[in-house]
Amino acid sequence: MDTNNDLDALKTRLVADLDACEQAGGKGLDDLKVRYLGKKGEIYGLMRGMGALPADQRPAFGQRVNELRDLAEARFTALEERAAEAAIAAKLASSTLDVTLPGLGAELGHLHPLTIVREDTIDFFRGMGFELAEAREVDHEWYNFEALNIPPEHPARDMHDTFYVDDGIVLRTHTSNVQAHYLLNREQGPVRMLAPGCVYRVDNDASHAPMFQQVECLVIDEHISFANLKGTMLLWAEHVFGKGTRIRVRPSYFPFTEPSAEVDVSCSICGGTGCRLCKHTGWIEVGGCGSVDPAVFTQLGWDPERWTGFAFGFGIDRIALLKYGIPNIGLLTRNEVGFLKQF
Ligand code: PHE
Repeated sequence: MDTNNDLDALKTRLVADLDACEQAGGKGLDDLKVRYLGKKGEIYGLMRGMGALPADQRPAFGQRVNELRDLAEARFTALEERAAEAAIAAKLASSTLDVTLPGLGAELGHLHPLTIVREDTIDFFRGMGFELAEAREVDHEWYNFEALNIPPEHPARDMHDTFYVDDGIVLRTHTSNVQAHYLLNREQGPVRMLAPGCVYRVDNDASHAPMFQQVECLVIDEHISFANLKGTMLLWAEHVFGKGTRIRVRPSYFPFTEPSAEVDVSCSICGGTGCRLCKHTGWIEVGGCGSVDPAVFTQLGWDPERWTGFAFGFGIDRIALLKYGIPNIGLLTRNEVGFLKQF
């Protein structure tokens, strides 16, 4: 066997195969590489056959085989690189991405209408020196009722209004439970407290939701009168609904205030002349209020001879409905993007 001839023949075949492969766009490249350069490939086969040569010819032959291997490696590498580039080019050509098209535009998020009203209310009262307070939403019924002069047989405690979690444990029905916690934790005034939060009632229609938000306001000092209450509420109503807004208080009853009243604001839509929103009365009810009942002071360890105060509680959802003309309270908690996008 003439090993040098074998080498020449192999080289000719290798170059021809590589040229063909290149022409075919790299097709069969991997197989070809294994065939020539693999551990059991033809080039290593030549090296193994070197033993048949006379010893003095081996170094020169070995060098020729190495040169052939170097040539093969260089060409395979070049072909592989070419194939990789071609793959990327093909992918780019087949994708429909047009980087010159205008983008879709990132939409900016915004605050929920309830958050807007709540934050705005907090800002307003903070500016007048009120302190923020909170209490549990799941509370012992004593704080929600007894502490506020609502005895067990009071209709407000009826199962129809109140969610009972456990024996004696309720989902608070109003933020007035904060009054009880707040006053128990303090010995004396003055007090200027604001407590926004969620409350729960067994109720569900266009203007009542089983969960809604209230804001409770409590002011106590030595000479606080009902006039202070009206003045504070008027300032707040003007802040929320605009200058010129009027308020009116109608006698009502809450066990924890005396006297008690319901608060109406002049309709923000018609300005008081009458429209559908205010059911043609010109007024819209927003909450309850009154002077702190002496029985509450006594119950919570405050001297009713010394301290007087007022409290009011507004429904934040109610205010949001009025401010934005939303027809159904349920919309506020349904998380419908189409609805929420309008604010
Ligand atoms: N807590 C009462 C309610 O939810 C509102 C209120 C608060 C009334 C404070 C008087 C004083 O209906």
